[in-house]
Amino acid sequence: MEVILASKELNVKLDGFRGNGIRIGLIPTMGALHDGHASLMHEAKKRCDHVVLSIFINPTQFNDSADFDNYPSSHEADLALSESCGVDVVFMPSVSDLYQGEPRVDRVNYGLLTNGFEGGARPGHFDGVVAVVRRLFAAVKPEMAFFGEKDLQQLAVVRKLTENEFTDLQVIACPLIRDVDGLALSSRNARLGGKARAQALAIPRSIKQIQSAVLGRLSINQALNQAKIELELQEGVKLEYIDVIDGKSFETCRSGDHGVPYVLIAAEVGGVRLIDNIPLDPNRRLT
Ligand code: PAJ
Repeated sequence: MEVILASKELNVKLDGFRGNGIRIGLIPTMGALHDGHASLMHEAKKRCDHVVLSIFINPTQFNDSADFDNYPSSHEADLALSESCGVDVVFMPSVSDLYQGEPRVDRVNYGLLTNGFEGGARPGHFDGVVAVVRRLFAAVKPEMAFFGEKDLQQLAVVRKLTENEFTDLQVIACPLIRDVDGLALSSRNARLGGKARAQALAIPRSIKQIQSAVLGRLSINQALNQAKIELELQEGVKLEYIDVIDGKSFETCRSGDHGVPYVLIAAEVGGVRLIDNIPLDPNRRLT
């Protein structure tokens, strides 16, 4: 495994890989890697001849400077995990290298995909995500790129970007990976204290509860209202949104009979903002 810090060097390395029928896979990350990221690496290894994993804490996607300042990083462990998963190249550019100077982003408007939920709660977030993913795609020119369903809305935004600007690139969606206690794995979990970590379990519990309630014939509205009432009573949990949407268009679903409905949640626990989702019908999912 090689660690490359500059785009120029990356170009030279990847030119050595490219060839007829050769597939290069890219996994964009912000580091502090965990088993969720590892599942993307395993999928990329299965499907590609060469795997590039990028580690870049992208300043332009943080609407909250404290979140950026406190974003965890663990380079040594990240490199060890990447190596053990068979990654060929870890690309860790500087801000000025990737953005070719001061970072600049353009406004992105993909309608509901960029404006609702995460887009509404974190103004400018998807402008930054699109800016960095576009630059990583241009730097690596992969045949396939791997993204997790954990960030369901990001996945839809990246699919739209790819459809518009990188038509030869295949986006592979990978299932959300949870810890043994049910909490969705996230780099930000490292910032949860013991008490907050226990309180955060209300998040996966509430979306599973909605899934079971709707399977048990409660209406989506009733199930959502019940979950909201229970979350309001949970000590330490500040609910931002909980809803049922179509995982492709992000339109709200109230009947469950169109699109691929997902229960989506964002909440703050112990000063850490967490997101999670689950398919409303376990037999109907995007991946
Ligand atoms: P990051 O949060 O590091 O996540 C990198 C990739 O890992 C994303 O595609 C994310 O959806 C996936 N991932 C994270 N936790 C996961 C889990 N529990 N199960 C499955 N997949 C998981 O997402 C970003 O970084 C950034 O926004 C990025 C795309 C790199 C752009 O800066």
